[in-house]
Amino acid sequence: MKKISIIGAGMTGATTAHWLAERELADLVLVDVVEGMPQGKALDMLEAMPIIGKDVEIVGANDYAATKGSDIIIITAGLPRKPGMSRDDLLSANAEIVGKAATETLKYSPDAFYIVLTNPLDTMAYLTMKKTGLPRNRVVGQAGILDSARMRAFVAMETGVSVENIDCYVLGGHGDEMVPLTRHSNIAGIPLREYLPADRLEAIVNRTRKGGGEIVNLLKTGSAFYAPSAACAQMAEAILKNKKLIVPCAAYMDGEYGLRDMFFGVPVMLGANGMEKIIEYTLDDAEKAMLEKSAAAVKETHEALKKLVSL
Ligand code: APR
Repeated sequence: MKKISIIGAGMTGATTAHWLAERELADLVLVDVVEGMPQGKALDMLEAMPIIGKDVEIVGANDYAATKGSDIIIITAGLPRKPGMSRDDLLSANAEIVGKAATETLKYSPDAFYIVLTNPLDTMAYLTMKKTGLPRNRVVGQAGILDSARMRAFVAMETGVSVENIDCYVLGGHGDEMVPLTRHSNIAGIPLREYLPADRLEAIVNRTRKGGGEIVNLLKTGSAFYAPSAACAQMAEAILKNKKLIVPCAAYMDGEYGLRDMFFGVPVMLGANGMEKIIEYTLDDAEKAMLEKSAAAVKETHEALKKLVSL
């Protein structure tokens, strides 16, 4: 059995474990700083396995030794947003937590792939790669699947068509400047721009951009966790099953889309070698301009990180 360790057993971490256990993909370890909590959640989930008929070992721990020999490390540890906060407001607190989680887990799992969920996402993925010194195929950030899923859900709500028929692609940084690519999005092959009136499409694009904030304002005490964790489970599955799945994720850019030395949301291929390939879409001028704006916002957060932490 493969092994996945999830650092941070809060809302996203524990729900990621839940989705993964249902898939019977790997044995699971939940690590958190709160004493007893990861152990309690892990035991509770383990006790559900006979009911759903899955043979998965699930353990909780407060130290990284339990993560030894993991194939995948998923980092969700850190603070979530509260109403009025941007993802970037989390930078200094989460940089310390994620930096430590990355370097400590690598000691026990030198061959692991990293999936980073903690916000500000693109910059936490950058930090993980720089701190661990891993090649770029082994560090990927979750964001694009979530943002695209939000757009797909809104299109389904608008049209009444099955979510399975709806393909949407949201690229760029995981912030309000993200880039929903309406030209590449479609319903059963019909371009979204043909299927929906322009004003409805624009409303969906705007709601997608602010999708995370919409949930934060409703929950008031934390941020979204069902959809982010489902995205994370899909990424882990694609890697462990060598699916060669093309999905938007945050990846380290080395010249693609004209960007360098930063993480950014682009279509990637996920397989047994992790982030195996970045897919480059042909973009028109308006799309390029949106991507550049989003990249500038992500770069700014990367620069803020470099002032806080030596990389
Ligand atoms: N090591 C391990 N776990 C930690 C550490 C640490 N150093 N510091 C904090 N944690 C744990 C907290 O104890 C908490 O259980 O991380 C968990 C975070 O869980 P929640 O507060 O429920 O937050 P969650 O909604 O899961 O979001 C976590 O993911 O989507 C992002 O923006 C979100 O950055 C946030 C992160």
